Amino acid sequence: MRILVTGKNGQLGKSIHKVISANAKTDNNQNSNQFIFVGREELDLSRENSISHYFDDNDKFDIIINCAAYTEVDKAEEEQNLANQVNHLAVKQLAQIANKQQAKLIYISTDYVFDGESDRPYMETDAPNPINVYGQTKLAGEQAVQVTMPTNAIIIRTSWVYSEYGNNFVKTMLRLGQERDELSVVGDQIGSPTYATDLANAILEIIQNKEFKGAKQTTQIYHYSNEGEISWYEFAKEIFEITQIDCKVNPIATEQYPTPARRPLNTTMDLNKTRFYFDIFDWKNSLNECLEIIK
Ligand SMILES: NC(=O)c1ccc[n+]([C@@H]2O[C@H](COP(=O)([O-])OP(=O)(O)OC[C@H]3O[C@@H](n4cnc5c(N)ncnc54)[C@H](OP(=O)(O)O)[C@@H]3O)[C@@H](O)[C@H]2O)c1
Repeated sequence: MRILVTGKNGQLGKSIHKVISANAKTDNNQNSNQFIFVGREELDLSRENSISHYFDDNDKFDIIINCAAYTEVDKAEEEQNLANQVNHLAVKQLAQIANKQQAKLIYISTDYVFDGESDRPYMETDAPNPINVYGQTKLAGEQAVQVTMPTNAIIIRTSWVYSEYGNNFVKTMLRLGQERDELSVVGDQIGSPTYATDLANAILEIIQNKEFKGAKQTTQIYHYSNEGEISWYEFAKEIFEITQIDCKVNPIATEQYPTPARRPLNTTMDLNKTRFYFDIFDWKNSLNECLEIIK
């Protein structure tokens, strides 16, 4: 199979690359797949022409894994058109191309499609209601996939993604924890962290799955995160505990940390549908694993 992975320089793109490289040494099946990783230099999702040229100039693909996205939640409030182009219109174009090439599409979405007002974990079937531009554009991307590809696509909603790569909460806390004696971190936003390596493994399991590879399957949404409901404050405390960084963490309320984009308060996602198919790992175990690599 020829498998295209967009966003090669992002956290998830790099994590997929890492897992494939590790598997390639032991797993013959993976070796029969040809993975093509592209960044914005090869395939710029902000330009319709760049997308069509890329697919015109390359052989057809069997699977497209779209890890590229406009992910700057606060900046998206100002750059609405760009965020919409990358997270929605480009995704629609990818879905149209996937249809034409009879390829499957995996689209990564976010817990920020929800408004965070629920008093129980969100199920895949719950009505989304994004409260910021980033969430709105990602939801528009989901809907474009569902309309354009009623079959042959998978939408994976994930949350609080971190890894040894790029910028993320874990790496920011490690830096600030070493610079300061005390930190204030939001304590009333609840969610579940996702180690990008765990998500990468789940995606690679999907593409090896016979049902996914086989005849047309109805397009499905899955929620994927690590196990555990925590606040950013608890996340920070655990990072310092594991790394033995001596930095006091104080919980603050969302109102005390104003940001251009509103954040949903509780976006914990129900994982029961996903748990049926995939391994879900405890958030502390995965955090330990990532911190071990960063060390
Ligand atoms: N990070 C999170 O906490 C989080 C939470 C929920 C859902 N998600 C979703 O998970 C997926 C993976 O996220 P991630 O954490 O890996 O994001 P990331 O580290 O920010 O990577 C996103 C990648 O998209 C690329 N990109 C941005 N604009 C582009 C464009 N116009 N053309 C081509 N590529 C472009 C970026 O390229 P450059 O490297 O060149 O900038 C970057 O490599 C995304 O769909 C995201 O929406 C992420």
